Amino acid sequence: MRLSDAPLIDQARIARRVEELGAQLREDFQGAPLTVAVLLKGAAWFAADLLRHLPHDTRVEFMRAQSYAGTASTGTVEFGLLPAAEAITGRDVLLVEDILDTGRTLHAARAQLQGLGAAKVKICVLLDKAAPRVEAITADYVGFRIDDEFVVGYGLDYNEEYRTLPAIYTLSINPH
Ligand code: IMP
Ligand code: MG
Repeated sequence: MRLSDAPLIDQARIARRVEELGAQLREDFQGAPLTVAVLLKGAAWFAADLLRHLPHDTRVEFMRAQSYAGTASTGTVEFGLLPAAEAITGRDVLLVEDILDTGRTLHAARAQLQGLGAAKVKICVLLDKAAPRVEAITADYVGFRIDDEFVVGYGLDYNEEYRTLPAIYTLSINPH
């Protein structure tokens, strides 16, 4: 297992892109009361930075989904934490996730928000991985598009480690 020497995406690039996304979101959701639903744990870092650029009446809720063991998707998505219904029902919701891979997590999370009566659900991901989708999911807002490789840092983990890295690095699992 080997961490790339240089970041794939460094801190300055992340900060610049987060600021751009914030500006775009402020414009797109102008006048509509917005709830940001953050998928724990990975998206917490991205969301915390992004939320600093959003209006002061933005509400924040957390969801916890688990579908991953190591670097291989397990195929089932379970929710350990869901948003308060009153923060979702009848409101525009921005679902924030760290990375879009097979699409299973976002597909299941969006269904939960729709089930809670969200007026509209838009999806914002920090990273969109060029990987085969299992569920047809397209993100409305994308920080960066990356190749189909495993990345860690800025909230993204490998078996719960590496989340604290301030930038995004690639992790080679079997370096030869
Ligand atoms: P999906 O449900 O397959 O789209 O996977 C989304 C989840 O898998 C994310 O919330 C991440 O937790 C995890 N994941 C997918 N790719 C990576 C990666 O390259 N690094 C770290 N976590 C990843
Ligand atoms: Mg994860």
